[in-house]
Amino acid sequence: MSSTNNIDVFFSAQSFQENELRDKSVVVIDVLRATSTIVTAMMNGAKGVIPVEDMGEASRISQSVDSDNYMLCGEKDGAKIDGYDLGNSPLEYTRETVSGKTLIFNTTNGTKAIKKSLGSSTIYIASFLNLSTIVKALSVEKNEIVLLCAGWKGRLALEDMLLAGNIIYNLCDAQLSDDANDGAKVAFGLYEKYSDDIKSVIFQSNHAQRLKDVVGPDDIDYCCQTDVTDQLPILHDGIIST
Ligand code: MLT
Repeated sequence: MSSTNNIDVFFSAQSFQENELRDKSVVVIDVLRATSTIVTAMMNGAKGVIPVEDMGEASRISQSVDSDNYMLCGEKDGAKIDGYDLGNSPLEYTRETVSGKTLIFNTTNGTKAIKKSLGSSTIYIASFLNLSTIVKALSVEKNEIVLLCAGWKGRLALEDMLLAGNIIYNLCDAQLSDDANDGAKVAFGLYEKYSDDIKSVIFQSNHAQRLKDVVGPDDIDYCCQTDVTDQLPILHDGIIST
């Protein structure tokens, strides 16, 4: 697909109905931190990531699998959940910890956005860490594309919209056509405004402020890095792999 008029941007997991994604390719974005963590886990050799809706689904799946090969991972209010193996800090997902493991992954907004996309044609997992690889995949995508920003509990998250804008900016070589969708225009404009200063803008975002007291600045620093990996995580049959 060469033009960007087939791209839309949804600003939160609650801002659309499932049937709006039918036959479309969806790019799920949760920069802080779920999709950055998934990309990191795949980069460090995780076998797969099973996104779940909530703690109930996570615990049902974890009880039916072998704990040597599976890990229970995720957060509530940004912090590791009691009894889980890992939280949602990408820095925990080292090669030593996750290589060869399948991760059952439960987060507040990111995994819900992925689950809500199950009726779409393809689901890609995007972060700044794998930006160029995502752009390359989308540049040959035949379907209509939705950049699905997970947001925060129904609200827009600046860091997600900035990545959506950055993806669009690269796809259209910085020239967005007049007939682009409104969502694409908003994301593109936001990225254009802040492109020189992405990291400090993200540090001031609402979710970075929320995380400040829970995890400190290292996670945010890490998630702002661009093109650390060429991983292209895609969901197949309920499991994200590359
Ligand atoms: C989410 O899914 O809402 C986030 O990844 C929350 C977080 O930063 O842990």
